[in-house]
Amino acid sequence: MVRGIPGKIYVLCLCFMMDENEKEKEVKAPKPFGVDYVPYSRRVRARQGDFTRVALTSEILPGRAKAVDFEKFKVAIFNIEGKFYAIKDACPHAEYPLAKGTLRGEVVSCSSHNWQFNVRTGDCVRADHGNDPKNVQVRTFPVEVRGDEIWVKV
Ligand code: FES
Repeated sequence: MVRGIPGKIYVLCLCFMMDENEKEKEVKAPKPFGVDYVPYSRRVRARQGDFTRVALTSEILPGRAKAVDFEKFKVAIFNIEGKFYAIKDACPHAEYPLAKGTLRGEVVSCSSHNWQFNVRTGDCVRADHGNDPKNVQVRTFPVEVRGDEIWVKV
């Protein structure tokens, strides 16, 4: 029961409480193996059509990468001599983040077991444990640079 000044009308805003409830539900929901929890605040990004703004060009230096959280997975954005490429930030071998790998030219080496992938094409260059590199690929995503912003189609 809400008490107030007689004759006044009070409006209760439950918007904030609803957000908190949504967040609690998210945290309590079971997570699939190998998928990191991504807070809601980090999932909301500017979108135009299928493209999502992920970073400023100045945030990713040449030869470097940045991992970006999406709803169900992460995407690694690489800067190769001023051109940007996006791949799924999970090594097909054991899901180690490829954004943490070592970049040489267009090839990123996974820091975990040294499988190698071409960042531009997604092709596997080197694999081991009897895996044929021709049968392994990492998912790639289209990238557009609009002014000083990087947009990715996921
Ligand atoms: S997790 Fe990348 S090579 Fe094993």
